[in-house]
Amino acid sequence: MLILGIETSCDETSLAIVNERKEILLNLIHSQIEIHQAYGGVVPEIAARSHIEIIDKLLAQAEQISGIGLKDIDAIAVTSGPGLIGGLIVGLMTAKGLAHYLDKPLIEVNHLEGHALAPKLTEDIEFPYLLLLISGGHCQILIVKDVSDYEMLGSTIDDALGEAFDKFAKMLGLPYPGGPMIEKMAQNGNENKYILPKAMVGRDNCDFSFSGIKTALKNIIDIQKDQGALSQDFICDLSASFQKTICTILEDRLTNAMAIYEKRYSGEKRFVISGGVAANNYIRSKLQLLCDRNGYQLFVPPLKLCTDNAAMIAYAGMERFKKGYISDLFAVPKSRWPLDGMLKEEKRA
Ligand code: KG4
Ligand code: ZN
Repeated sequence: MLILGIETSCDETSLAIVNERKEILLNLIHSQIEIHQAYGGVVPEIAARSHIEIIDKLLAQAEQISGIGLKDIDAIAVTSGPGLIGGLIVGLMTAKGLAHYLDKPLIEVNHLEGHALAPKLTEDIEFPYLLLLISGGHCQILIVKDVSDYEMLGSTIDDALGEAFDKFAKMLGLPYPGGPMIEKMAQNGNENKYILPKAMVGRDNCDFSFSGIKTALKNIIDIQKDQGALSQDFICDLSASFQKTICTILEDRLTNAMAIYEKRYSGEKRFVISGGVAANNYIRSKLQLLCDRNGYQLFVPPLKLCTDNAAMIAYAGMERFKKGYISDLFAVPKSRWPLDGMLKEEKRA
């Protein structure tokens, strides 16, 4: 079985082919970062136009590079939400055109389900598992019970974690996307230099809030700017202090989530981190220690499968295909599409 995956929900245009042995036969990722950098973040209209310009070229390359003809594909999986609506339209229309022309099934994939199942592409992880989904648009803790079956334990009430990294980097004058830059700066910084607010810590839930830390960072940066240009040492120390604070918050929220998970499930304890921020090595190492302390086995997808890519969409599509979740050509893109309501929607359909 060969599944073609299409991903266009944000600023990566990506096409992939995955087979039933979970081999990634192709994973083309065209990043738009350069065109958005001048604006300090993703501009939705520019993103949509860029997806239109590139997607046909990628399709032509896909056949050339993989040696697999589109007619040999068994189904087409596409991100149909959540994400930026212009990009979603481009991906979904392309997928519908292909599905119609090739007379193959269309499988709509929730982008978050792509991230949630991505670690299963490279490792055999059984359901259920506890999932921390941290990306540019999302920050959630979920129990993954099965394909389509998710229970939300907590989520952010304001900014996503990747968004907090990106906004912090912008304040420091660092280029978009901020996460990798902050991680790099933090490596040479003193993480105990600045004390930052830890919103939600100590509360009896699994939610997050990052707007307070953002304001605190802005105040510290403004005071520093009044004294002159921001020094390298200042940027490194503040970045390291930010990452340390973030990890304290994650550890506290996850400790509550682990307690809930353990009340529901006995047996092996599995914990997965996914989404773009999971590429951060400092966060990975801190969460590894948390898992060691609590007896969890930690799974993190390889770097290339952490950030947006179509291989995870093709794989999630294959799992959905096996369960018979097939869409018709009336499918519509969804800018919002919570993971924990999916099973109810499918039972209604
Ligand atoms: O999953 P993703 O590629 O796109 C979304 O679905 O949002 O995540 C992108 C986010 C950006 O906010 C980026 O700054 C963040 O992931 N990111 C990182 C790192 N690499 C990417 N954040 C922290 N540390 C990193 N090394
Ligand atoms: Zn993503």
